Amino acid sequence: MVTATGMAILLLAALAILAPSAWGLDRAEFPPGFLFGAATSAYQVEGAYLEDGKGRNNWDVFTHTHSGNILDGRNGDVAADHYHRYMEDVDIMHKLGVSSYRFSISWARILPSGRLGGVNPAGIAFYNRLIAALLQNGIEPFVTLHHFDLPQELETRYGSWLGAGIREEFDYYADVCFQAFGDRVKLWTTFNEPNLFIKHAYMLGRYPPNHCSPPFGNCNSGNSQREPYVAAHNIIMSHAAAVHNYNKNYKVKQGGSIGIIIAMKFYEPLRNTTEDILAAQRAMSFEIHWFLDPIFFGEYPKEMREMLSPNLPEFTPVEKRLLQNKVDLIGINHYTTIYAKDCIYSPCNLKTYEGNALVFATGERDGVQIGKSTALAGFYDVPEGMEKILEYVNKRYGNTPIYITENGYSQHSSNNMEDTMNDIDRVNYLRGYLSSISSALRRGANVRGYFVWSLMDNFEWLFGFTVKFGLYHVDLATQKRTPRMSAGWYRDFLTGSRPVDKVQDLRADS
Ligand code: BGC
Repeated sequence: MVTATGMAILLLAALAILAPSAWGLDRAEFPPGFLFGAATSAYQVEGAYLEDGKGRNNWDVFTHTHSGNILDGRNGDVAADHYHRYMEDVDIMHKLGVSSYRFSISWARILPSGRLGGVNPAGIAFYNRLIAALLQNGIEPFVTLHHFDLPQELETRYGSWLGAGIREEFDYYADVCFQAFGDRVKLWTTFNEPNLFIKHAYMLGRYPPNHCSPPFGNCNSGNSQREPYVAAHNIIMSHAAAVHNYNKNYKVKQGGSIGIIIAMKFYEPLRNTTEDILAAQRAMSFEIHWFLDPIFFGEYPKEMREMLSPNLPEFTPVEKRLLQNKVDLIGINHYTTIYAKDCIYSPCNLKTYEGNALVFATGERDGVQIGKSTALAGFYDVPEGMEKILEYVNKRYGNTPIYITENGYSQHSSNNMEDTMNDIDRVNYLRGYLSSISSALRRGANVRGYFVWSLMDNFEWLFGFTVKFGLYHVDLATQKRTPRMSAGWYRDFLTGSRPVDKVQDLRADS
């Protein structure tokens, strides 16, 4: 009888024989200077939710008032306690051999109640300490300004992104960050996945401020046909204002780059029919072009204009001028590929994420899954989708430098430590997606970096702590970080060492 560990060791041994370096993938396939990192976000890892002058943010309030909406009823009050353990976390990153760390800044730690309440020096000091520790370890900070959380005060005042007043708030916040950290931070992104969180917040009513209307849901307030586009418009203009300010006042002096991160699934037509081919194109448009077309071409995509007018705002001449400020990079968060089925000519359930594009997304065709499932419904392991999305984005947006700002594998939380730690499926997933990037690079894709989601287990939004994405397991009771097999694999890949079956030496205390 072979145990799970035994199996894993046998597998590792077999892989070691087959491949000289990290099990069939070689770092030398990536250009020199290519950034390899790991990512987290403030609300998901920091904890310390009311410490050192931090204000409450929308997720603090939502998880406290709507704990029933979080699968395990938990919240990010403590999360992975990164606020206190950042030194240990930088240390494990150093041991992994990453060249960059992608993290987000907690807006409410910097400006507890927005622009009118003043800057919190302790918040600035925390990120200064984190950045200093990273740089001392040769790890480049890659910063996101907004990753779903914002001061509750602004949520109350503007409905977060519904009121145009939020644009000035974001512009001010971004300016504070450029001024405070821009001498050392050279890679900035304004927003993380606005295309995704807007739909959850204003169409499906799941994320704060929980707005929606039928057929998407019955929330206390909202209009699923209109509000997502108003909120998106304000985000696009907030982004443009921050880029304008950065380009005008900081870029030359500080020598950095700025961009935005979009969640990108790759959509394949369910059937080889004109209807489904068009459905896949529509889904791509509503997912990607919605934000990147205005940012690159100053206008929403034609398909959206045709289907959504008059709910889709128009850009005024002043707004169009602001949009002429170009971004230096595109961040892509890519996890999965999925089939798109047309809903214009055939009936579907439209109360879904792609419903506004009149598309139904499914992971199955004739009972066969598009790829191996993961712990999150709708997320399949389809490595070749990575190459397709890279080619797609490179082609449409003029070969702009791309960073894969998130890619990772989710497993269910389990009390079986062997299963939890021997995450061979994550290793396979990461290796597959990295190979796909390497192949895209050979075909000329302009990719500059890759970040695994996530460095460590963290608060997974509506799923609480029931789903784990970490290279490092985090024990919620003790906060102990323990490297999974995937951490060892990533380290081997980054350092070019031979496969290991023991990952003890990756612990912070080793
Ligand atoms: C988000 C992360 C999240 C991850 C896995 C992305 O949508 O940026 O915050 O944890 O996917 O669901």
